[in-house]
Amino acid sequence: MIISEGAVKARVPVVEKVSKEMEVFYNPVMKLNRDVSVLLLKVLGEERKKDKEFEGFRIGSPLAGTGIRECRFLVELDKGLLKEVHINDYSEDAVKLIKKNISLNEDKLNCHEIEVSCDESDKFLLDSCGYGYIDIDPFGTPNPFLDAAVKRIQREGILAVTATDTSALSGTYEDSCLRKYWARPMRNHLMHDVGLRILIRKVQLIGSQFEKSLVPIYSYSKDHYMRVFFLCQKQGKKAAAAIIKQHQYLHYCSKCLSINTSVSNNESCCKKQTIWAGPLWIGPLWDKKLAKNIAKTNTSWKHGQPKNQKFLDIIAAEAQENLIGFYPFNLARKLSKKTPKKKEELLKRKGVYPTHFESNAVKARDAKLLF
Ligand SMILES: C[S@@+](CC[C@H](N)C(=O)[O-])C[C@H]1O[C@@H](n2cnc3c(N)ncnc32)[C@H](O)[C@@H]1O
Ligand SMILES: [Zn+2]
Repeated sequence: MIISEGAVKARVPVVEKVSKEMEVFYNPVMKLNRDVSVLLLKVLGEERKKDKEFEGFRIGSPLAGTGIRECRFLVELDKGLLKEVHINDYSEDAVKLIKKNISLNEDKLNCHEIEVSCDESDKFLLDSCGYGYIDIDPFGTPNPFLDAAVKRIQREGILAVTATDTSALSGTYEDSCLRKYWARPMRNHLMHDVGLRILIRKVQLIGSQFEKSLVPIYSYSKDHYMRVFFLCQKQGKKAAAAIIKQHQYLHYCSKCLSINTSVSNNESCCKKQTIWAGPLWIGPLWDKKLAKNIAKTNTSWKHGQPKNQKFLDIIAAEAQENLIGFYPFNLARKLSKKTPKKKEELLKRKGVYPTHFESNAVKARDAKLLF
């Protein structure tokens, strides 16, 4: 079947149910994941173009599936933003489809330095001389692919990581989170915020093993997955220390609703032990200027996707202050207060922001500012 997504056409398998067992994997629900990747490369690329030495991104995509994401990069990003695009999958069927999909869009490609290969992800990455953008988009956990990706991400490069094993990260299976991500999750309304920050710390720890400091510049949790874009900075000792300092525990008090962070996992509040998770990343989830630019570019760009505008605007607002956690309205009763009726009224207050983690909730420094 031939479908359209963004500005490209792509041949994808016809199936009743999207699953890992598909001949070649394509999930229409991940369109937003691909939309955001295109937008982020567009915004960063336009910024970097101001520097005369910027030659365009060298893209390495080891887990490409149908290649639809890479076709969108090749078609939707203007000439000069891409230097080379290397597309790989270990499935021969996938590679056949990738080649077909590139041909389907042949007349619209803005970059012709394309290589398609059929290798194991690690081999593909380790045989290369490095990339300025690597996209790790696996089934489930990104863990097996991280070492090679971190080794081959260049200085100032962007490492994009998707995790779909949200049941581990958000605490359905605590043991699985401890084993895979070396941190304790939290099974309550904060589970996705906590899970995203646990994922970030894990990738950063792999980074520090290879002397790379990875700073999240755009992160979110949606549907069945979590997604983070890291900027790779060359790790001086100072940069490494600054990252590790921001690996702490999150504490939640179910009585007064307070959310705090600490280097210790033994804290109390309202005369009882807090509910805790971590260690996790307590730094910002976004570069706030980038988050604003992404939302703005989606509005004005011919390849912008109007359906995503609300989501991108919420993130742009949420990114303005680094606040961990959020307050769902239904928790007001725990403080013996009325559930707020109008979110818009709350959002007019200084220091109150929307959150993409939950629609009936807001971010603020303190629950007392809200209810
Ligand atoms: C979730 S799909 C990729 C989806 C694609 N990036 C997209 O946006 O539509 C994961 C892909 O990774 C491939 N894959 C899984 N393990 C791999 C490995 N060790 N080396 C190379 N490819 C692998 C699978 O064949 C599959 O096509
Ligand atoms: Zn308390």
